[in-house]
Amino acid sequence: MGRAKTAELPDEYSKRISISGAQTELQTSISCTGRTRGVDFGTYRYAYMTFKFVPCSRSSQRRDDLRILVTGGAGYIGSHCCKVLAANGFDLVVFDNLTRGHRALAKWGNLVVGDIRDQESLRNTFRRYRPDAVLHFAALAYVGESVSDPDRYFDINTSGTIQLLHAMLEAGVKTIVFSSTCATYGVPAALPITEQTAQSPTNPYGLSKLMVERILLTYTSAYGLRAIILRYFNACGADPEGDVGEIHVPEPHLIPRALMVAAGQEDAIDIFGADYPTRDGTCIRDYIHVSDLAEAHLAALQLLLQGGHTMALNLGIGIGFTVREVLQAVERVTGRNVRVRAAPRRPGDPPELVADASLAARLLHVDPKFRGLDTIVQTAWNWHRKLLVNDSLKA
Ligand SMILES: NC(=O)c1ccc[n+]([C@@H]2O[C@H](COP(=O)([O-])OP(=O)(O)OC[C@H]3O[C@@H](n4cnc5c(N)ncnc54)[C@H](O)[C@@H]3O)[C@@H](O)[C@H]2O)c1
Repeated sequence: MGRAKTAELPDEYSKRISISGAQTELQTSISCTGRTRGVDFGTYRYAYMTFKFVPCSRSSQRRDDLRILVTGGAGYIGSHCCKVLAANGFDLVVFDNLTRGHRALAKWGNLVVGDIRDQESLRNTFRRYRPDAVLHFAALAYVGESVSDPDRYFDINTSGTIQLLHAMLEAGVKTIVFSSTCATYGVPAALPITEQTAQSPTNPYGLSKLMVERILLTYTSAYGLRAIILRYFNACGADPEGDVGEIHVPEPHLIPRALMVAAGQEDAIDIFGADYPTRDGTCIRDYIHVSDLAEAHLAALQLLLQGGHTMALNLGIGIGFTVREVLQAVERVTGRNVRVRAAPRRPGDPPELVADASLAARLLHVDPKFRGLDTIVQTAWNWHRKLLVNDSLKA
């Protein structure tokens, strides 16, 4: 049965686009073309963009002919994305120097052990594998470390990405999905955070990512690059089937650290500040499950492959949880006590970061499946217990 649909663009957009197409029971093919005003990237405004996309029933869309280079694919988020991409028929090449990643997480496609700052290694990889597009996760991502050693962050996250872009352009590859972060916003003036919120990072990590965002915009206008910049909020959880999960050494993230306390590997967890203007005095964050992030990457890649143009999108669930609420969920799920220790506020930690992710929902047609803290923590706990008995996973 054919049916026409009209999609309302966000307020800041002045035009409406019309989406029409034949809908079958499986909703196999909706196509759309439209023109709309671009996303405001702080001081830049990216002229006008055109987009055209065909979201299809994902499992029916086999993409064996397309090869994707996944930098950082042996890491936490990259490995979950590889699983989803492989399940959707993409051929994968993981490019990772394994400094923070793990062979055991690079389960799909070929693994090339290389550094994004090594032009020769990149060039050889592009020549040998001839990828059609790039998913770029490789980076350092610890805020505290970036404050004490900003040089490494600008070297890997910013210069490393310039090297990658250079190799891409040389090989004629102009499609990239880039892992950015809510840390580019700094302390927002208002909540929830939209893509229009001013970007003013409060640490070198956020700045290293914001610089890449700006570079991607200039490469868009100069070289016809097409990039979808995904600004994640707090990634969390693990693959519900237990194939991959989070392995960070050291582990700075709240949920896995709390699980370490629950498992008896740590004595207590620090609460950095309990006097914030929030409902229980602790910081509020937006936790998005890593499998939902992976689905959003698949959709972003498909959008670009169908001709989608450069844009930036928030990825969160739009709901904030306090540190104490997360810890209570860990206690409920594990059935164990999580001892806490009061610690001073960390400089530059905003009281509350919650995404308005409605633009991603509209343009990527994604809807996070994991919205409850207990479900999220349960997937992380299942993975954590697997790590406890199988040390080889950390290889
Ligand atoms: N984890 C989060 O909550 C979060 C939130 C926002 C954005 N991000 C971004 O998502 C991406 C992935 O984060 P993650 O949590 O999976 O981190 P991760 O450390 O698990 O993965 C990063 C991967 O990049 C690799 N890598 C690092 N430097 C490299 C280099 N010079 N050359 C090649 N490979 C290199 C590491 O070995 C690792 O496998 C990062 O770009 C990060 O900034 C993460």
